[in-house]
Amino acid sequence: MKLQEAIKKRKSVRKFSSKKPDWRDIIEAIHTAQYAPMAGGLFHLKFVIVDNKQLIEEIAKWCEQSFISEAQYVVVVVSDPGIVTTPFPKMGEYFCPQQTGAAIQNFLLSLEESGLSTCWIGHMNEEKIGKTLKISEDYTIEALFPIGYSNEIFKKKKQDPDIYNILYFNKWEKYRMKKTEKIDSRAPEGY
Ligand SMILES: Cc1cc2nc3c(=O)[nH]c(=O)nc-3n(C[C@H](O)[C@H](O)[C@H](O)COP(=O)(O)O)c2cc1C
Repeated sequence: MKLQEAIKKRKSVRKFSSKKPDWRDIIEAIHTAQYAPMAGGLFHLKFVIVDNKQLIEEIAKWCEQSFISEAQYVVVVVSDPGIVTTPFPKMGEYFCPQQTGAAIQNFLLSLEESGLSTCWIGHMNEEKIGKTLKISEDYTIEALFPIGYSNEIFKKKKQDPDIYNILYFNKWEKYRMKKTEKIDSRAPEGY
């Protein structure tokens, strides 16, 4: 699968089939996350793969999202912010969420390439999930990902997002791209 295709095809899935994914595809996706850019090259994340049905059900309960319990695997992304905030005392707290997002996007695209589906879960009771999985209180649970094969029927095609309201050239508001201009042209008309 081409990168552009994976980026544009990826969709959150909240219905999974009972077919169990190959765990190696999940390990590969986690490994791909390690290639993301990190401030100072410092990787601050850890990953917990959960395949125990009872634990998955508990996770679903503490996220108040029952569809999670249908997943064959849940991957919990945990961060150790100190790895970044110690060497970068001023900027570390800004770097952490940025590099977490970069790593997670790599992870999501790798799952997409393997034909697997997931949904980014941010709504959770972090304390209860931490206790359920015995994650040390020194770590932050960033997000979790129920993983499986999609059983979702999407009625609508994914909308192509409009770039015209988010893009400026050189100066804020100065040169706005017009709808008549093509994305593949290098600069806006009159620029
Ligand atoms: C930080 C973050 C937290 C999210 N938390 C949840 C969540 O708790 N439950 C859920 O169903 N979707 C959650 N989502 C998924 C978004 O709803 C979804 O990505 C968005 O609607 C766009 O749809 P798409 O992923 O299909 O492009 C979250 C996404 C992000 C980035």
